[in-house]
Amino acid sequence: MDRIAIVGGAPLNGVIQISGAKNSAIKLMAASLLTDEPLRLTNMPRLADTRFLGTLLTRLGTIVDERTGDAGAETLLHTPEIVSSFAPYDLVRQMRASFNVLGPLIARTGQAKVSLPGGCTIGARPVDLHLKALEALGAQIDLHEGYVYAQAPRGLTGAEITFPFVSVGATEHAMLTAVLARGETVLANAACEPEIIDLAECLNKMGAKVSGAGTPVIRIVGVDRLSGATHAVITDRIEAGTYAVAAAMAGGEVRLTNTRADLIEALLLKIEEAGAEVERMDDGVIIRRNGARLKAVDIDTGVYPGFATDLQAQFMALMTVAEGESTIREHIFENRFMHAPELARLGADITVSGGEARVRGIDMLEGAQVMATDLRASVSLVIAGLVARGETVVGRVYHLDRGFERLEEKLVACGANVRRIKGAATAEIED
Ligand code: UD1
Repeated sequence: MDRIAIVGGAPLNGVIQISGAKNSAIKLMAASLLTDEPLRLTNMPRLADTRFLGTLLTRLGTIVDERTGDAGAETLLHTPEIVSSFAPYDLVRQMRASFNVLGPLIARTGQAKVSLPGGCTIGARPVDLHLKALEALGAQIDLHEGYVYAQAPRGLTGAEITFPFVSVGATEHAMLTAVLARGETVLANAACEPEIIDLAECLNKMGAKVSGAGTPVIRIVGVDRLSGATHAVITDRIEAGTYAVAAAMAGGEVRLTNTRADLIEALLLKIEEAGAEVERMDDGVIIRRNGARLKAVDIDTGVYPGFATDLQAQFMALMTVAEGESTIREHIFENRFMHAPELARLGADITVSGGEARVRGIDMLEGAQVMATDLRASVSLVIAGLVARGETVVGRVYHLDRGFERLEEKLVACGANVRRIKGAATAEIED
């Protein structure tokens, strides 16, 4: 298993180009199942998660062609026909979002057998809202032995679906299914995340009729068939936010390009409140901190445009060396403080109680061996390592490879002392 070693102390100075969003790319890839024409996705991140999904889609009948186009990495996905509607446990457990193939498979073929994703390290994460939405659209759902057996012999029909609480995945899954249902679907209390808008834009390019994406009410008028399209994946706001925190932590000046400041505004306001400088540009953002110690600030995670739960671990790392005490409240996922005990191994002073963590800033972290527990937690340990005295070695970095493209390369280009220690190949994947 690979590890990442970081020697702390170097400021970050330079430019980091932000990749396409993992969380959007994998839903857009699933959309390719909805048409027999090619879908070309540009600004594609090359990640373990996109590879996992590519493997699953290939089994279902998609020809997945990763190539380099004029504007960088792109993926051409072409599903002339669905050759199998079966998504096995081994593939779905590797990445929870693979479950999103269920709706498109039902929409295209009238039936599917897809493994339930199972739990993961950041809480129970059920899929009840996904299944209720599909049932409302006319799918008959049976659960046996860890699998969802779904049928819609007479096709799917539009419905009014009110989500009891906001779920990004369930909103996207309902959209991916309703675009080919007969009649109109209204999704109320829908998620408003930028990736939802990205999915709607791509579906509309394919001939779908989706309106209201980015607001709590999304309307979809079903169409008989969808066509191919070309779509650029939205910038990865979580990657951008992660490097923004890294720059505030290490000091120096980092310019993030190919991204949008408005997508991480909640984070940028907190970074400013903590004492770093933020310059919002047309094509990105500059983060600057010269010398002065950061101050502790409190955060509450929330649905977009609130503070993203996927940036909570990184911000906690930042607060470990800020002056004063910070309270971090996690409102989206239970059990999402697995990084706290690992940060404590670097000397951080953190007390977790239920959904709340109190971080008392210390002068200096000390390098140690630590272990990644999930995708965002693992990058928080790398960020902490950037300022820790001595060497920090982060194990289980396959978590990082799921969601961060060329992480070491991007940090090294800004002056960080980061290297990958190659280990034996492993098939162990948890989330
Ligand atoms: C997506 C993102 C993830 C991000 C999260 C919240 C992807 C691949 N992942 O995850 O990075 O942290 O949004 O912004 O896009 N829930 C249920 N039943 C359901 C569905 C969800 O109880 O059927 C709960 C979850 O356990 C969680 C909350 O709803 O507590 C929100 O989850 P959701 O918005 O669905 O997150 P994901 O789509 O899984």
